[in-house]
Amino acid sequence: MASGLRKGLATYGDAGFSLFLRRAFIKAMGYTDEALDRPIIGITDTFSDFNPCHGNVPDLIAAVKRGVMLAGGMPMAFPTVSIHESFSHPTSMFLRNLMALDTEEMIRAQPMDAVVLIGGCDKTLPAQLMGAASADIPAIVVPTGPMLVGHHKGEVLGACTDCRRMWAKYRAGEIDEAEIDALTDRLAPTKGTCMVMGTASTVSTMVEAIGMCLPGGGSVPATHADRIRLAEASGAAAVRLARDGVKPSHILTEAAFRNALVVLQAIGGSTNALIHFTAIAGRLGIKIDLEAFDRLGLDVPVLVDLKPSGDHYMEHFHWAGGVPRLLRELAPLLDMTCPTVTGHPLAHTIAGAEIVPGQTVIRTIDAPIATGGGLAVLRGNLAPGGALLKRSAATERLMQHEGRAVVFDGLEDMTNRLDDPDLDVTADDVLVLRNAGPKGAPGMPEAGYIPIPRKLARAGVKDMVRISDARMSGTAFGTIVLHITPEAATGGPLGLVRTGDRIRLDAAARRIDLLVNDAELATRRAAYVAPPAHPGSHRGYLRLYLEQVTQADEGCDFAFCRAEG
Ligand code: FES
Repeated sequence: MASGLRKGLATYGDAGFSLFLRRAFIKAMGYTDEALDRPIIGITDTFSDFNPCHGNVPDLIAAVKRGVMLAGGMPMAFPTVSIHESFSHPTSMFLRNLMALDTEEMIRAQPMDAVVLIGGCDKTLPAQLMGAASADIPAIVVPTGPMLVGHHKGEVLGACTDCRRMWAKYRAGEIDEAEIDALTDRLAPTKGTCMVMGTASTVSTMVEAIGMCLPGGGSVPATHADRIRLAEASGAAAVRLARDGVKPSHILTEAAFRNALVVLQAIGGSTNALIHFTAIAGRLGIKIDLEAFDRLGLDVPVLVDLKPSGDHYMEHFHWAGGVPRLLRELAPLLDMTCPTVTGHPLAHTIAGAEIVPGQTVIRTIDAPIATGGGLAVLRGNLAPGGALLKRSAATERLMQHEGRAVVFDGLEDMTNRLDDPDLDVTADDVLVLRNAGPKGAPGMPEAGYIPIPRKLARAGVKDMVRISDARMSGTAFGTIVLHITPEAATGGPLGLVRTGDRIRLDAAARRIDLLVNDAELATRRAAYVAPPAHPGSHRGYLRLYLEQVTQADEGCDFAFCRAEG
């Protein structure tokens, strides 16, 4: 099989001419024949002035290049889409599949024997792994790493759990305009990804657990010299992976996904990670079984004490031993034979775990933070295709709750009415947001963390049961039922709920139910009017997205990108 510069020639009808032309053009960059005859290691360049979570990418690329050269390869960086959470309209999830398509096709189109995927902000590593799984050439991930913590008035702060907490205080009138402004200087004090166990940290932790990055890759802070050394080592590892022909499909096995899901439960991680890993698995023909994931939760205790479920931040997790230390604790629940990009099975990573005396961030299996897992999968007449509840971030007394529905028909309706002093709502009600799913919003925004209505927030209400077909940031907290499937916009029962209906959440029984009889629901269904088409949906990426995006239980990937096509 062709390798290096000879791979994937442009089609001119004469392979010799294609290679001749390629060599002639690339030499314009000053390369020698000796350099061009080495194995080529592609490096994704996801630096963007709009993406501070990737602010260290240039330094990481330089280090990866050094590692590749030291190991006898030829590094070649190439740009792909870069997505930052707060710089993506309408929402980053709308663009994740675009980045996955871009990454897959650029890996395929350009001659490389292995690829180093540098990403970090929430949607980027999932998109890169989706693309790399489909392209299936040797690949290794270098996460950009978490930022360091911030400080404010003697308090340690982190993006973005404390962004939400401080904003809630501002809404409740507990802090003023000047202080909320000052906080924009302090919540995200360095380059790198959010340093709580939000989506980015959850995904990077799971990427390390699944074996796609080197030990430490999931947690070394973005600004530390160790992150640079890890990038250099990853460059060298990429050359080895290319030489040995180890592809993502060799590492991303069913057993490896199960290991990653054990870790997701044990860290009380982001609900988004389940969607992302379902999408990555779907690229390889592997189905993530929601019921099996829920059962895992019954066996796997929450061991990591990080915000938003706990007290600490990613740098504390790292210095407590990071993912290898966590995996060591979870070893009885893991398949230790799974291969990794280190060239050794997972057992080897675990054997190298650092034991830090006296640390309390990573608990032992005998003294967990919570039992019963971080995430619960719910079913019921409101969510026949499933829904998620982040138990570890919920309020215990609300996990069995029956209340009156207060319905918002979409994001605009919610924005217009939520803070109306005349809104008929009490703390015992259940806030319902619909038409905020993959097709309904579109892009399934992180709107599931419905703010507490201002008048209740000012009265001291901190949590309510909130349900939606949207997602929630991994940094958010509360008794929030998400990913209700099927979504309202595709005819899901969430679209039939009316203000005043009773809704029952029973987390122990894994149920979310609308207490309205079947005959009444049938009458409502017959009278149901779907929301109007999204403006601009007749063409372009929005049209492709709306035609192809799947529901949360299939990872919201494009149907035609899944392994079965
Ligand atoms: Fe990029 Fe949080 S905004 S990881």
